[in-house]
Amino acid sequence: MTIFNGRKAKISGTGVYIPEKIMKNTDFEKFLDTSDSWIYERTGIKERHFAADGERCSDLAYNAAVAALNDAKMSPETLDMIIVATNTPDSTFPSMSCKVQGRLRAVNAGAFDVLAGCVGGVAAIQTAVSGVVSGLWNNVLVVASEKFKDYVDWNDRSTCILFGDGAGACVLSTSNEGEGNFISSKISADGTKHDFLSNETENSGDPHVIKMKGQDVFKYVSINLPKFIENFCEESKITPENVDFWIMHQANTRIIDSVFKRVGISIDKTLLNLEQYGNTSAASVMIALDESMKKGCVKQGDKVCFVAFGAGMTLGALLYEV
Ligand code: UT7
Repeated sequence: MTIFNGRKAKISGTGVYIPEKIMKNTDFEKFLDTSDSWIYERTGIKERHFAADGERCSDLAYNAAVAALNDAKMSPETLDMIIVATNTPDSTFPSMSCKVQGRLRAVNAGAFDVLAGCVGGVAAIQTAVSGVVSGLWNNVLVVASEKFKDYVDWNDRSTCILFGDGAGACVLSTSNEGEGNFISSKISADGTKHDFLSNETENSGDPHVIKMKGQDVFKYVSINLPKFIENFCEESKITPENVDFWIMHQANTRIIDSVFKRVGISIDKTLLNLEQYGNTSAASVMIALDESMKKGCVKQGDKVCFVAFGAGMTLGALLYEV
């Protein structure tokens, strides 16, 4: 089942928090055998942000949450649920969402985390929308937050140059006629490819450090994502040409280019911010969503498709009418 049934759910507000500290490609040249030109040409990344010393993943999440609530003009007491997607939590427990709930004093909200690789942002929104359309919740805060600074292997030039820290958030609420409306969503998984991208102890000897088979991930996504998008659009009763704007997971501009070419989507119909932020994993679609809303890339009535892919391997999509 791809289509949401029941009540309608809309985006009431969005927000981001990007830590101040910038690390440029040229900074990597000082301690790795790499270059600004290699990184930019192979990935589209120029710089990424990293959390300050002492700044935790939950702090990034909290700051993005405050920004989204301010944008929605809602107080924390109105929230029924807080969902945080992350792959780089301060701790496995308690959840990041409980820390956010506590700091917000969101006294009426439950809280849990979602751990779903780079598809985490899409998975968290899908869960929140399901709760709203079913009548379980009225207002849900969804946050995606990543602090890769503690999780990358700084000696591995093929991975540490890719990731960056940041958080994005949105408030989802019940919707009336003429307001925004989530139409459909889909997540697929192929767990036989779980070793393409992982931080398992058995791989690295360190439970945190990311290990990636970059070319395998690249090929898997380039081959499977176009078919996934076409099937998702068909099941959602829309053609890719009729999608007005695409909110894409920002992993590599070459991947987005290749997928768009195969599906026949114009690059003008998306926003690329890899150059400034690198890959912020689960947070990347949330950051791209906020930027697209604030820059006026989408207008009322537009059909917007969110697309993400990542560790698992997993692919995910959401269709939203603004
Ligand atoms: O969020 C989803 C998860 N991740 C992704 O989507 C990542 C998908 N994969 C990729 O984006 C690309 O595979 C990478 C950017 C990670 C690597 O690019 P590539 O074009 O696939 O390079 P490669 O792994 O085939 O390596 C080509 C060469 C190798 O050298 P040799 O063996 O040909 O001498 C690498 O050692 O490039 C070398 N290399 C580098 N050289 C300079 C790898 N990383 C670097 C680097 N600087 N940072």
